[in-house]
Amino acid sequence: MTASDPSVDRQKRAAAEAAIERVRDGQIIGLGTGSTVRFFLEGLAQRIKAGLRIQGVPTSKQTARLAHELGIPLLPDEAEWSLDVAVDGADLVDVHMNLIKGGGGALTREKIVAWAAKQYIVIVDEGKCADALGAPVPVPVEVLPFGWPATARHLQRFAPSLTLRQSGGRPFITDNGHYIVDLMIERVAHPLDLDGRLNRVPGVVETGLFVDCTTLLIVGTDRGVKFVHPLRGEVQPYGDTTG
Ligand code: A5P
Repeated sequence: MTASDPSVDRQKRAAAEAAIERVRDGQIIGLGTGSTVRFFLEGLAQRIKAGLRIQGVPTSKQTARLAHELGIPLLPDEAEWSLDVAVDGADLVDVHMNLIKGGGGALTREKIVAWAAKQYIVIVDEGKCADALGAPVPVPVEVLPFGWPATARHLQRFAPSLTLRQSGGRPFITDNGHYIVDLMIERVAHPLDLDGRLNRVPGVVETGLFVDCTTLLIVGTDRGVKFVHPLRGEVQPYGDTTG
């Protein structure tokens, strides 16, 4: 495990804490995956100890394990949840609040939860923000192991450079038992269009492009927290935590 940058961790924690302030008693909450969400879960657990009643839906086995350790109650994976809000991190965010996700391999469950939630709050450090989606952050695509080289050949039309994600010298396996192909695309000009075209390739389970889902973006910076809403843009000054 590589050591994390303390300044980036402060930004992640600040964004997570601002999201925790938005959680209300009785809510059902989608719990994302990753190091930024870990700060959110830790803060949420403290509020639960202080009396907050919520139920969570985890987007990965890793998050489910952590939630159990922290004493966060979870709903069964196959329940019919009605999610008030989901909170998740991202690998890259563009100026329209579209995302690349899946650096941790949880993209499919994350996308199901994002689409199921009434509100979708994305928490990131400022290093994740860019004008457009694309290199150096690859677009992850979850694929069936069956015939994956054939699937990858079709994906090559969209990204000449692609790799099968590895872990410990073997293909990385998602929580759903699938592989991930990472597509290096210089600039994703039309994320919605690309998401649709990738999803039409046989063998593709889901892509890490999250388009038009974010209802609130919270960016942790060294100067405080920034809130961005889809229609209103950036509405609160740095440092204000009430956006
Ligand atoms: C998990 O598959 C990803 O989508 C994560 O949400 C994303 O990689 C953000 O992770 P960090 O908060 O660790 O940067």
